[in-house]
Order: sequence, then structure tokens, then C-alpha cells
Amino acid sequence: MNKAKRDVVIAGNWKMNKSPAEAKELITALKPLVADADCKVVICVPYTDLFVAVEETKGTNIKVGAENCHWEKSGAFTGEIAPQWLKEMGVEYCVIGHSERRQYFGETDKTVNLRTKAALEAGLKPIVCVGELKEERLADKTHEVLDTQMAGGFDGITAEQMADIIIAYEPVWAIGTGLTATDEQANEACAYIRSIIAAKYGQAVADAAVIQYGGSMNDANAAGLLAQTDVDGGLIGGASLVADKFAKVVAAAK
Ligand code: 13P
Repeated sequence: MNKAKRDVVIAGNWKMNKSPAEAKELITALKPLVADADCKVVICVPYTDLFVAVEETKGTNIKVGAENCHWEKSGAFTGEIAPQWLKEMGVEYCVIGHSERRQYFGETDKTVNLRTKAALEAGLKPIVCVGELKEERLADKTHEVLDTQMAGGFDGITAEQMADIIIAYEPVWAIGTGLTATDEQANEACAYIRSIIAAKYGQAVADAAVIQYGGSMNDANAAGLLAQTDVDGGLIGGASLVADKFAKVVAAAK
């Protein structure tokens, strides 16, 4: 299967931005701008914006995602959210293992694995984030890091389940820094991730896998990145907070 047959998915990751009122305003502005999109459009928003996001996107081509979920169905886990509750409220996607969660909130490949399995079981589509730190890239350890993150994060996940997972390659040095990976660096890493999937699940599963790039992707650089053979979309931070900029990234996904 070549790229043309895979879904292209442009997802915004709002991170800890936008109050419910601001979310409503942004979605209202975004809806007409992306109504004719040639790709799948997803907005991953703070828990407190999910209700308004689901309501405001009903009947549109915009799908809603959360930014995290817990792996248990309920219990004494103060501050956590169960994946089936997200599903119940109309959420379809869930970002898992973002580097900010790995850096600041003790997320590990093991917890990424638990959250991914729980999200799948609840019927959510996980967007699993992987990517190397700047010092790891400089030490030529990018492949090693991706090997480890993919082995741990995808432990016990079946070939059938892979069809519901999106992988986001997000080099940590490119996130929020304005320092985008070059088209070639992004493509090389996404192709490497695809080769890891091929080795574990076979070529057909790898060929069908949707692999996004994320890290300072914006209206100016999206077309070049999205034209790469192994880049099947983007996970957009800062540029997803401005309707017009996010719409231009969506429009670049032809
Ligand atoms: P920026 O687009 O702000 O660099 O963030 C990327 C990201 O972390 C998306 O998950």
C-alpha cells in the first residue's frame, strides 16, 4: 500500500490552552475553514473543553480527542480520567505518551503501553507519541530511542489493534522551539518507525499504519513535510490554537 491509500490525519494538540469559552470561539471559527478538508481533522483538547468540543463539532468533519487517559476503569486515582468515560461523551481519539507527559509527569513506555491498551479497549483511537531528545539526536541515538519506545509502548498490542492506532513522531527538540525537523529528517524517522512496525507485524500492517510528524509544524512548513512519502499527517501544537493557521495546515494535506 502506498501513501495515497493511507489516511492523512491532521490533529491539533491544544495542550493546556483555551478555556471552554475560548474553545467554543476557536471551534466556531475553525468549522467553516476546514469543512472541505481532504484529510481527517481532529482537535485534541483539555478535559474541561471536551464537552463543548463534542457539542460544537456535531455534524461536522472535525473529530475530538483527549490529551491523556488513565488505564483503569475507575478507582482511587485522584485527578485521572477513565477512557470509557471519554468514549461515552463522544470523544474518538486520545493522545498518549506526549513528550511533555514523559518529561513532567513521569510517563514511561510502560504507562504509555497501559494507557494505549485501555484506550483501545474503550474504543478510542490512540495517538501514541514517540521521539528523541536533542542530545539523543546529536549522539546519533534516534533509532535506538525509537526502538525502545516502540518496543515498550506497543508491547502486547496486536496487528488488528494497530489499525486503530496513530503514531506521532515528535522529536522533542522540535516541539515549541520553532526548530522544525527538515522534511528529510521527518521522513527518515517516520520511515524508520514504519520499518519497526514491519519487523513486528509484517509489511501489510506497516504499509497501512498512519504515522504523523509533530514539532513546530505550521502553515509555512506543512506542505513540505506532508509531501514526504512516510509522513501521513501532523500533530500540531501552537499553530492549532489559531483557526486560520490550523486551517492552512489542513489545506496543505492534499
Ligand atoms: P508545537 O507545534 O507547538 O511545536 O507542538 C508540537 C506538539 O507537541 C504537538 O503534540
